[in-house]
Amino acid sequence: MAQIIGGINTSHVPAIGRAIHRGLQDDPYWKPFFDGYRPVHHWLAEARPDVVVVFYNDHGLNFFLDKMPTFAIGTAPSYSNADEGWGIPQVPAFSGDQDLSWHLVESLTEAEFDLTTCQEMVVDHAFTLPMALLWPDQTWPVKVVPICINTVQFPLPTAARCWKLGQAVGRAIRSWESDVRVMVLGTGGLSHQLDGERAGFINKEFDLQFMDSLVKDPTWSTRFSIHELVEKAGTQGLELLMWLATRGALGESVRELHRNYHIPISNTASGLMLLEPSP
Ligand code: DHB
Ligand code: FE
Repeated sequence: MAQIIGGINTSHVPAIGRAIHRGLQDDPYWKPFFDGYRPVHHWLAEARPDVVVVFYNDHGLNFFLDKMPTFAIGTAPSYSNADEGWGIPQVPAFSGDQDLSWHLVESLTEAEFDLTTCQEMVVDHAFTLPMALLWPDQTWPVKVVPICINTVQFPLPTAARCWKLGQAVGRAIRSWESDVRVMVLGTGGLSHQLDGERAGFINKEFDLQFMDSLVKDPTWSTRFSIHELVEKAGTQGLELLMWLATRGALGESVRELHRNYHIPISNTASGLMLLEPSP
């Protein structure tokens, strides 16, 4: 059966793409952020995942306000970047793992999670930049399966629902008859708000509590409603739902191998966590 070898949660911010393009990794502003990924590079070189299941939120690129699935999954042979942000240079297309995509579609539907299946899908900074942070040479030694969670247009799925989605995805991966090594990646967060009176809002205390909870008490954040989470993490901080789904997929308990937390990157409190399922 397929094995889940680990999970990584990381922020995504379009300005990261510009910093990569301009080679600013050692610039004083960016260094504390980019240095955080080094332990992850070492881990990836050892762990050698074959496939990455990516929980991310589309930002109006693939889905727009006229058609907004709560949950969607890619079943495409490949996924190309189509993000307009900062004029990011094109990155190589990502190869899809269609066998795993369809196994997930079938298993999740059976488990009463009816995802919108997308046989064509373009991806934005929330997908491409975390991949570029993990594999800076951008050769993508993995296949991918994208899973989108709506955090753009209300109503949004509850934290409890995203936790259960993650659990169902984890069960589905572990039931796949394959010897493939699967990693789960969640992108977005941590606290940030880009618009309105509270633009620039960041909540370090909440972020650190949330990161701790993923290890010690993973359903802690499911006690909060979406509106309470907006208050605590900011409107776009709701992207923490991807982190929660990723944690759900990892099973009962996890070991924390690495974390980084740095304020600010653009308007965002940036976070990174590397988790391994405990046997
Ligand atoms: C920023 C953060 C995001 O999550 C995003 O999707 C776009 C921009 C920012 O902080 O600039
Ligand atoms: Fe975002």
